[in-house]
Amino acid sequence: MTTYLEVQKKATASFAACFQSTPTIWARAPGRVNLIGEHTDYNDGFVLPCAINFGTLVGISARHDRLVCVVAADQLDARDEFSLDAPITQSQENPWSNYVRGVVRELQSAGYALNGANLSVSGNVPQGAGLSSSASLEVAVGQAFKALYGLQKLLPSQLAVLAQRAENDFVGCRCGIMDQMISACGKARHALLLDCRSLVATPISMPAELVVLIVNSNVRRGLVESEYNTRRQQCEAAAAYYGVKALRDLKIEQLENPPADLPALVFRRARHVVTENQRTLDAADALTRGDIAELSRLMSASHLSMRDDFEITTPAIDHLVDIVGEVVGKRGGVRMTGGGFGGCVVALTTHALAQEAITQIAERYRSPQGAPATSFLCVPSDGVGTF
Ligand code: GLA
Repeated sequence: MTTYLEVQKKATASFAACFQSTPTIWARAPGRVNLIGEHTDYNDGFVLPCAINFGTLVGISARHDRLVCVVAADQLDARDEFSLDAPITQSQENPWSNYVRGVVRELQSAGYALNGANLSVSGNVPQGAGLSSSASLEVAVGQAFKALYGLQKLLPSQLAVLAQRAENDFVGCRCGIMDQMISACGKARHALLLDCRSLVATPISMPAELVVLIVNSNVRRGLVESEYNTRRQQCEAAAAYYGVKALRDLKIEQLENPPADLPALVFRRARHVVTENQRTLDAADALTRGDIAELSRLMSASHLSMRDDFEITTPAIDHLVDIVGEVVGKRGGVRMTGGGFGGCVVALTTHALAQEAITQIAERYRSPQGAPATSFLCVPSDGVGTF
């Protein structure tokens, strides 16, 4: 994996080649891994992610005109340029830049006064793995402008909301608030219990004996967006049926018997969300108490719920979870993480068991296309910052 130092070198070189100068400020925002609480964020529920030590770096300096000029070090130095004085619209030729354009547009419409800037962007979050490289780009861009133009009033949680709005309304992806919140508010050596309704974030200390193992299945993710949107609609339909604002407001007891006039599929979707919310609160509690056996049980139940009720796992992912589960037993937890249909598995366990799991995966796992998995240990990290 590329280190942050290498990322910065690359971004510095692109900046120099493009603008014949060096950035005055750097912003760095992390990707994330979600320990538990999947597809609960857009149901006003709870999630328990941690920021990881892989992210996006943005180097920035002021311009004396009203242009924003961006170079993408990871896209063969592709460039984009737009004016702050004209309506900001989508770029067809540089889709990567729509995250930049979207955030700048949201900053302006929130009333923040900006001036022109040169930016260089580079990162080391594995692409397409479901580790929120796009949220980290949005948050890093927002932070870079905040630092450059002294937008002190812009709190981290507000930056997250603004970045989510850019993704929802400008890029056109209906994600929840989890990824942007953890990228903006993450805390080193902690996970964050986020209440996605109030946006209250409670740091949960990681027991010292646990490491975070991420295993990228390298399954090519298909249908992610359409299936994601379908799940959201099914959750909204279930909330409307039960007459609640969001599934967060439904009690587990209300779901004991499937009603005859609600499609069984919609019922199962609701059951996943409502039980997952409770598991997330229980997992935060188990982590706090250092109760690894309970954490193991909750993560396993979460995976089964995603497999059977929410139907977002794939056989390759289930296989990976089984391999890791056999190794760690009750001395760790493992589940699929992120939106689903491929992507990564996350495990929390001891260093020795994580190493053993990595060995077993290398021997026993191949994706449907024949690719081995990519396993790496990561460190719960701080949210966005500047240097
Ligand atoms: C994606 C979205 C998040 C969240 C997860 C599922 O990562 O961006 O908002 O909904 O899926 O938990």
